[in-house]
Amino acid sequence: MIEFRNVTLAYGRNVVLKDVSFMCQFHEKIAVLGGSGGGKTTILKLMLGLIKPDSGQILVDGQDITVMSESELRDIRMKFSIVFQEGALFDSMNVKENVAFSLREYTKSSEEEIDKRVRDLLKILKIEKAIDLMPEELSGGMQRRVAIARSLAGCEPKMMLYDEATTGLDPLTADNICNLINELSKGEPPGRVGFIIVTHKVTDAAKVAERYIFIRNGNIIFDGNIDELKKTEDATLKKFINELYVVDGYA
Ligand SMILES: Nc1ncnc2c1ncn2[C@@H]1O[C@H](COP(=O)(O)OP(=O)(O)OP(=O)(O)O)[C@@H](O)[C@H]1O
Ligand SMILES: [Mg+2]
Repeated sequence: MIEFRNVTLAYGRNVVLKDVSFMCQFHEKIAVLGGSGGGKTTILKLMLGLIKPDSGQILVDGQDITVMSESELRDIRMKFSIVFQEGALFDSMNVKENVAFSLREYTKSSEEEIDKRVRDLLKILKIEKAIDLMPEELSGGMQRRVAIARSLAGCEPKMMLYDEATTGLDPLTADNICNLINELSKGEPPGRVGFIIVTHKVTDAAKVAERYIFIRNGNIIFDGNIDELKKTEDATLKKFINELYVVDGYA
């Protein structure tokens, strides 16, 4: 379980999160939505202990990670895979080496084990044929798949974190990535590997998420499922719902 307890964080005078509290299970399928600069990426960074809040606690499996040392945090980070927003691949390495990166860096895996793990992951992500290609030779959608493979290589996550995994992709490719996200989190709770997808593409969020958390001006203004969302009186959220209907062809 992950719990944010009254978390406040500011960069200088810019208060990004104000007294934010929420709780989630690793098996949940969550979309964190909000405008640009709203603090979505910041939430993921806090969850991984990459940054510390000014006040409040962040509990992962009951342990407060805001007071942990780097070596303790390493164990926490193993519970998550993360595809960063700026998830650019290493330009000078081919697909295999990109995916193998954390295996080489953080494990004592043999060359044979690395090769097997990389091939297995590329197969799951349906990009086996790209193994020897360089990033510049890949389409945007393939690059995103390699980034996801790379995020999974060094860990057996309990939850997957995706920061803007579909942003910048054409609708069809984005749709494929959504299908992949669903596939990687198939199964039933509590055994399922859940995810948090951070995005401002609400229509993509709707293809994968079961729970929606909206952030505005540093606060969570909504936390609920799609049925609850449809009953909202908030103007911004209503706009979100309308957007869904347009895509679904109802408007
Ligand atoms: N290292 C930093 N130093 C100073 N300000 C920062 C830093 N990181 C983020 N910010 C600021 O904090 C705010 C929240 O940033 P964050 O990246 O969490 O937003 P976001 O919701 O992910 O936005 P986007 O949709 O554009 O990715 C922004 O105003 C941003 O400029
Ligand atoms: Mg962001």
